Amino acid sequence: LKLLHQGKVKDVYAAEDGNLLFHFTDRISAFDVRFPTPVPRKGEVLCRFAEYWFTTLYAPNHMIRVVDRDKMLVRPLKMIGLECVVRGYFYGSLAERFNSGLPTPLSAKTRPELASRLDHPIFDPTTKSEEHDRPVTTQEAIEIASITHKQYDYLSETSVRLYQEMSDRASAAGYIMSDVKFEFGFDAAGDIVLADSLGPDEFRLWKASDYSPGKIQDSYDKQILRDWLVETGFKRQVDMLAAEGKKPTAPAIPQNILQKLSERYIAAYESVTGRDL
Ligand SMILES: Nc1ncnc2c1ncn2[C@@H]1O[C@H](COP(=O)(O)OP(=O)(O)OP(=O)(O)O)[C@@H](O)[C@H]1O
Ligand SMILES: [Mg+2]
Repeated sequence: LKLLHQGKVKDVYAAEDGNLLFHFTDRISAFDVRFPTPVPRKGEVLCRFAEYWFTTLYAPNHMIRVVDRDKMLVRPLKMIGLECVVRGYFYGSLAERFNSGLPTPLSAKTRPELASRLDHPIFDPTTKSEEHDRPVTTQEAIEIASITHKQYDYLSETSVRLYQEMSDRASAAGYIMSDVKFEFGFDAAGDIVLADSLGPDEFRLWKASDYSPGKIQDSYDKQILRDWLVETGFKRQVDMLAAEGKKPTAPAIPQNILQKLSERYIAAYESVTGRDL
């Protein structure tokens, strides 16, 4: 098969009948750096997570079927150039923007506590495939994506509704889903269809029993890797080199860290979906 695109995690191939084959690899990145060591079974978790959401959420989507433990066949779409982000918590780049006085979709006048739950989930779209994703206003989003107002409203309403459903299921399993990113595209009939992937690389999960607002919350799946990178001083190196616009060479991840990472991906999948891997 012809490789069409290689992302940080997925490899996309041209399949028969013009369809696309997504290969979810075991690659991992952190602090915007890609690591040379694969995480056992990560690709499988990503693939099965995406399959779970595509088959159980009420939204037309691009999945045709899963064809291997880490491969999914999807319909080709004309992608809408937006990352449809929904946030349920005051966290991440939303908090950074608010704290630096930049515009946000928040109506709050006073600064919410870090990681606190928002009154209601907000739609916070960004541009796609720029070096850094940039938040956009409704008007900009409509222009960039070449869509109508009505289509924008559909994206916004659908994204918020899907987030609510996903976050309810996560919370029933003891997790908080603080935010999620969706991508949509137009199918051959001109209908808007949910696309790309839905898994731990698209949403942030916090363990509910460890949740305490007012500080940084550890992301359930990647925390093990981030902690190790801080301990070894690699994170400091990332920050120092970033000042010069450079990136360090990623170290190999030791076996015990890989093992724990792998276990966490599997645990999140099995508890949120109620399925065995
Ligand atoms: N059904 C589809 N038809 C056509 N393109 C799609 C479809 N679903 C997703 N895509 C696009 O395929 C690409 C998948 O790439 P992938 O997510 O692996 O890497 P990336 O977005 O380039 O980088 P990153 O690793 O940061 O996500 C994205 O550009 C995505 O928008
Ligand atoms: Mg992507």
